[in-house]
Amino acid sequence: EKAGFEHFMMKEIHEQPKAVRDTLNSVLKDGAIDLSEVGLTDEDIQKISQIYIVACGSAYHVGMAAQYVIEDLARIPVRVELASEFRYRNPILDPNGLVIIVSQSGETADSLAALRESKKHGLRTLGIVNVVGSSIAREADNVFYTLAGPEISVATTKAYSTQLIAAYALAIQFGKVRGELDEEKYQELITELQTIPDKISKILEDDRERIQWFAAKQANAKDAFFIGRGIDYAISMEGSLKMKEVSYVHTEAYAAGELKHGTISLIEEGTLVIGILTQNHLYEKTISNMVECKSRGAYLMGLTTFGHYNIEDTADFTVYIPKTDEHFATSLAVIPLQLLGYYVSVAKGLDVDKPRNLAKSVTVE
Ligand code: F6R
Repeated sequence: EKAGFEHFMMKEIHEQPKAVRDTLNSVLKDGAIDLSEVGLTDEDIQKISQIYIVACGSAYHVGMAAQYVIEDLARIPVRVELASEFRYRNPILDPNGLVIIVSQSGETADSLAALRESKKHGLRTLGIVNVVGSSIAREADNVFYTLAGPEISVATTKAYSTQLIAAYALAIQFGKVRGELDEEKYQELITELQTIPDKISKILEDDRERIQWFAAKQANAKDAFFIGRGIDYAISMEGSLKMKEVSYVHTEAYAAGELKHGTISLIEEGTLVIGILTQNHLYEKTISNMVECKSRGAYLMGLTTFGHYNIEDTADFTVYIPKTDEHFATSLAVIPLQLLGYYVSVAKGLDVDKPRNLAKSVTVE
């Protein structure tokens, strides 16, 4: 049942190219994105004045990445919120807003409550859901099904990756319908999106062993800090959660520019810092934050795209990912970070598929 893999998490990490391709293909028709199955018409899309993305855990991290992509491609304001906060804060909601609830299980108690709260306010709701017929899928006005298939490992990998694809498809289509993307750019983005599955496969083939080696060396780490800016900050959040939940290493994600406002005092000789640099216009900025960590003794891992070889002047260990449109970088950068969390857990002899204190579906708040 684990298809030759030692754990479900590793099996599901390797199912990502297929899960991503299936999800993308489900909304592609004649080379264009077609949201008719989802139930969003061009008129609906024109009307959206504000988007609220509400979710928990990794699904919230999808929202963090989606916020940058949707705002940039479709120029619709996006607010991302934790469902457990949203549901209790008496939110002021724009009646023409669209609430997007992201949930693998479709049963997460706080996400479901946030959905109900949004409906009570009269807002249109869209679920990005993996489990067909789940509560969120049933109650949302519209559903974008991710086609990840059943996910057994408690730590999400393939569902997260398909949720990202759903968010990109929405961003691109919203941008097109609202006149923010011309036909050429639209086609270019779709073509690039179609290359993501092969690029994920390549990362899995090329980097697995190196990351396993690095993870074994880091198995005794007490802390790890994941830093990045913009989309790289969203990636940092997911990388940090992946590692902490399965390996029990204390990790934190920080917007790189925030380090000097407090957290840098925690950096000492040998502290592991992982810098994520997939966004060209932020590259030098994050490098300088890495240099600041290094001068305080940090041990640095860099995660960037091929071509940025001068990162090796700063980083002690570097993983390169294939080039893609920067909006989609999360889909590639997360793969080495999933592997890192997995291999640190395995090196420590932990139960990687069932970390202590966690449940696959959080149906109580
Ligand atoms: C982390 C993880 C959790 C879930 C969160 C939401 O690896 O799996 O953080 O992402 O519990 O679950 P769903 O998506 O089912 O609402």
